[in-house]
Amino acid sequence: MNVLGVLTAGGDCPGLNAVIRAVVVRAAETHDAEVVGILNGWEGLMEGRTRPLDRDDVRGILARGGTILGTSRLDPYVHGDGYDSLRSTIEANDIDALVVIGGDGTLKTAMQLYDDGGLPVVGVPKTIDNDIAATDITFGFDTAVQIATEAIDRITTTAEAHNRVMLVEVMGRTKGWIAAYAGIAAGADAILIPEVEYDPAAIARIIRKRHRRGHTYSVVVIAEGVDPPAGLEVDQRIDQFGFKRLGGVAYAVGQELERHTGFETRVTVLGHLQRGGTPSATDRVLATRFGVAAADLAAEGKYGMMVAVRGAEISAVPLAEACASIRGVPPELYDVAETFFG
Ligand code: F6P
Repeated sequence: MNVLGVLTAGGDCPGLNAVIRAVVVRAAETHDAEVVGILNGWEGLMEGRTRPLDRDDVRGILARGGTILGTSRLDPYVHGDGYDSLRSTIEANDIDALVVIGGDGTLKTAMQLYDDGGLPVVGVPKTIDNDIAATDITFGFDTAVQIATEAIDRITTTAEAHNRVMLVEVMGRTKGWIAAYAGIAAGADAILIPEVEYDPAAIARIIRKRHRRGHTYSVVVIAEGVDPPAGLEVDQRIDQFGFKRLGGVAYAVGQELERHTGFETRVTVLGHLQRGGTPSATDRVLATRFGVAAADLAAEGKYGMMVAVRGAEISAVPLAEACASIRGVPPELYDVAETFFG
């Protein structure tokens, strides 16, 4: 391998720069390879926008949020002719292998490009949502949980001071990992996740019972992907790439809880706060280990694979396995959370 390409696509997450840095340094120092950065995800490959990356280019980025390469949700299959729309950039830059850092959508596209055009790809799973199959964890998740937990802790003290029910909405798309972890960490009185059906009247009963026992406030954590209560609509627009924009279901649920409990209920939607800023130490280490492993896999010619972590070990799994499903919160974890409701 002489030239390794690297791109970041989909929603950003803390730790992307740590992966880029690790790929560049490992490729240069261990495999004597050059690295070409692709700008703005697949868009850069489709439009020929690249930049060389050497060791100096990645100094000082380990702790920086976002991605120095930029990202987008443009997809060569949806917005172009699949592999044909990338071919000229791959050839012009003599790219021998490509490290694709992305979530489930990006990894599916990478797998398709590998299957259809033989694009020599190695995947790196990223997302604050922690929902990628075949890996125990994705980088970015730990940081998002930390931020959400700190926010819920803060909301808890003001809830207590004002005798209020507070609803905190966290990200996670169709899965409830951030809600489950941050809710457990902050001692939430109820946690609503898309994997588990809920009944607003039952949640209200938990809150009323808690108040009868002398507690004057309650904190409920809700994942953005939870369905709104029956009969209530949430205005969810579509973004420029055709994806549904989540966020705001807590307002509808809050309205229902207030109606059922009679207690003043306030809503906080944490939104992109959870995705911005510096990665946690845990995410920096995981992202660095993933980047090193991805450069090694590319150098060994093990394409169509994704780096993963299982237990304490970094391993490689077929992209097909990672893309086969979206990983949700297991019932055992929700059972732990539920033990502390009320
Ligand atoms: O997939 C990561 C994520 O942050 C989700 O939790 C969230 O629903 C989505 O991206 C938001 O994306 P955007 O910034 O494009 O609205």
